[in-house]
Amino acid sequence: MNRTATVGLANRIFRSLHFLPVQRTGNITSLNTYRPLTDSFGRVHTNLRVSVTDRCNLRCFYCMPAENVQFLPRKELLSFEEITRFVECMVRRCGLTKVRLTGGEPLVRHDLHRLISQLGSIVNLRQIALTTNGVLLGQQAQQLFDAGLRHINISLDTLDREKFKQYTRRDNLDKVLAGIEVARQVGFPSIKLNAVAIQGMTEEDLISLGQFARDTGIEVRFIEYMPLDADQSWEREKVLYAAKMIRILSDGLCQLQPVEKRQKNAPAQSYEFIDGRGKIGFISSVSHPFCTQCNRFRLTAEGKIRNCLFSHEETDIRELLRQETAEDQLIDRVMQSVSAKKEGHEINTASFLQPERPMYSIGG
Ligand code: 5AD
Ligand code: SF4
Repeated sequence: MNRTATVGLANRIFRSLHFLPVQRTGNITSLNTYRPLTDSFGRVHTNLRVSVTDRCNLRCFYCMPAENVQFLPRKELLSFEEITRFVECMVRRCGLTKVRLTGGEPLVRHDLHRLISQLGSIVNLRQIALTTNGVLLGQQAQQLFDAGLRHINISLDTLDREKFKQYTRRDNLDKVLAGIEVARQVGFPSIKLNAVAIQGMTEEDLISLGQFARDTGIEVRFIEYMPLDADQSWEREKVLYAAKMIRILSDGLCQLQPVEKRQKNAPAQSYEFIDGRGKIGFISSVSHPFCTQCNRFRLTAEGKIRNCLFSHEETDIRELLRQETAEDQLIDRVMQSVSAKKEGHEINTASFLQPERPMYSIGG
């Protein structure tokens, strides 16, 4: 092995030890302390969701307005290099281990696979995941896989074409189903479906999606409808609670039983049908919030840190990233946001106030 390769290897081993990470500032190599992102309730933040765009090719009614959406001007978006720089810093200095790319719809951002490759080269970043609506997945699945992506969540609320048109205001069910099939053929080891569950509306979809989970082996996760819609028409009566969904699925298909949680921070509680065919997850954000275990924070497409989906405050880091400011200043800014994180989202309190930004502009 030549000298450069040996030094490179030694550096990688040293950094992978994950303490006293090395930072280079100009020509000076300095040792910097490890600064875990711990909030005032002791929660350590190791999971980042990065929105790469607020644009979307669907208009789901629980997320976006039907028309006249004001998207961010392109120059306001963080570049792939800025996102990578931020993630690399968070991994090396703050112990970040997992990144999920979201939107809007992340696959409408040109050449997203380039970002996946860049993130893939970050030492100690254990997982890169993507949440997509699946419309463009058929075209991009192979490229994404080749870039190193392995974990995909696809949002799909119904298998019925008319209902799909009603929920998303677009006629794209065939493309999404084709996208799922291509992703399976390409060989993604982790594919999950996400379906938003709404009382008085999606009960029949539960059964057909439950059957889909049984037929394909793909885990389908139902998400309780949250007050993050652009039209602000969320009402508690529209939430289809996990307990009721479990009854509907058990009566309509086969008895469900809980599976022991492998990761305490996972937002979904998994169930399996007792005949061993099919797995279902429930994200009970309204009836059983997982806030006490939350290890997530978010970066919006234009470079704002949010400590919670339901937060009313944001911390801008775009200028710090653009000016290539010293890392400690950047980490101070992130810490400022994480430290201010509230104990929980307060949906179930009288004082709850829906955030101004709807889901598509925060990043799901
Ligand atoms: N409530 C619950 N889930 C939502 N999503 C979007 N808006 C809402 C909402 N108001 C889901 C999408 C996608 C993920 C990013 O968030 O369906 O699966
Ligand atoms: Fe687009 Fe996802 Fe919002 Fe639907 S939920 S409009 S697919 S960002």
